[in-house]
Amino acid sequence: MTPLPLSDRKVLLIVGGGIAAYKALELVRLIRKAGGAVRVILTQAAAEFVTPLSLAALSGHPVRQGLFLPDEETTMGHIELSRWADLVVVAPATASLIARAANGLADDLASTTLIATDKRVLWAPAMNVRMWEHPAVKANMARLRGFSGFHAAAVVGPDDGEMACGEYGPGRLAEPPAILQAIVDLIGGERRLEGRRAVITAGPTFEPIDPVRGLTNRSSGKQGYAIARALADQGCEVTLVSGPTALAAPAGVRRIDVETALEMKAAVEAALPADIAVLSAAVADWRVDTIAGGKIKKGPGGPPTLDLIENPDILKGVAAPGPQRPSLVIGFAAETGNLEANARAKLSRKGCDWIVGNDVSEDVFGSDGNAVTLVTADGAESWPRQSKVEIARALVARIVEHLKEDR
Ligand code: CTP
Repeated sequence: MTPLPLSDRKVLLIVGGGIAAYKALELVRLIRKAGGAVRVILTQAAAEFVTPLSLAALSGHPVRQGLFLPDEETTMGHIELSRWADLVVVAPATASLIARAANGLADDLASTTLIATDKRVLWAPAMNVRMWEHPAVKANMARLRGFSGFHAAAVVGPDDGEMACGEYGPGRLAEPPAILQAIVDLIGGERRLEGRRAVITAGPTFEPIDPVRGLTNRSSGKQGYAIARALADQGCEVTLVSGPTALAAPAGVRRIDVETALEMKAAVEAALPADIAVLSAAVADWRVDTIAGGKIKKGPGGPPTLDLIENPDILKGVAAPGPQRPSLVIGFAAETGNLEANARAKLSRKGCDWIVGNDVSEDVFGSDGNAVTLVTADGAESWPRQSKVEIARALVARIVEHLKEDR
């Protein structure tokens, strides 16, 4: 039997207050028919249009309406609820909900949940055409769409058509089957790495010189975090060993924070065995031999001399033959010239299976975009410049294919 498109998927539906709220009933029915679980949050205004009872009956769960209601918070607190979901859907999304989310306002259960969630949000706007075309609404929508990473809003509709108010134009809620399709596109489909384990390294390392100073580099960790997330989206059990970054741990990923290369090495080894290793961290090649116990002060002797020693190569260690070796070991190569040749040399020197080479002389560090060349034993492929999230998804698709052949 083919699994339903939303089997085991969880949708948190936020129903805003508008005449189109009645269509939320049909949407709940469709999600459940597609195999998904639904929990519903109703704003105060929405409760004027649909009853909590009908949504509770259709979803099979009590409907949540308030932020500080002891009965509701003790069964599943609002933070828990926002984490429970694989996707948050706002339908109908009113101008008010859009404005509050775009500006980080958290003044009721719906808006607080939208800020608290670590999942993507799919917006299905519905409002009068003049409201939809108002520059304030346009600006708020652009802001929601422009948030980086998983915070970027996914949007379905609104449709053109006649409105309840008698006017004509864009503003009608997308039809429930179209909203369902958008949900399936975002979270549906097979989880093709269920039962697999992966260890990922990401970010820079920080090698202390004294209690206040250290050696580090400009890696943001964005590419490695995106890979961790894309693997987890496929049901893979992911351990992300991360150097210091400003990023939040992707949902469903176990993150281990480290500072130095030695700590990173130990954490990676502790995460083995794994089927997949993607070592994207920019590990400092050297560390200071003797870390000063106190702050090094300026003095008549002039600047201090730092004695550096080489850090162990984590990638080389993981890729070395042995019972613990993951069946697919992927390294990265940050280069400022001769990308393909250097990446190929690194592939054989480190003993890994693939190298993702990137030219770091271009706009890579901290940026959301990247252009990479994938080097394997079969050859080299240059991928067009795209977002780090897209690169992560493409790489994970290749990993899935590779492991399938491997079985
Ligand atoms: N790497 C590692 N441990 C190190 C150094 C690098 O695991 N001590 C890994 C990185 O995570 C990356 C790959 O090796 O996957 C290549 O890193 P890169 O800095 O490009 O290469 P280096 O080995 O440091 O070579 P070079 O600095 O000479 O280019």
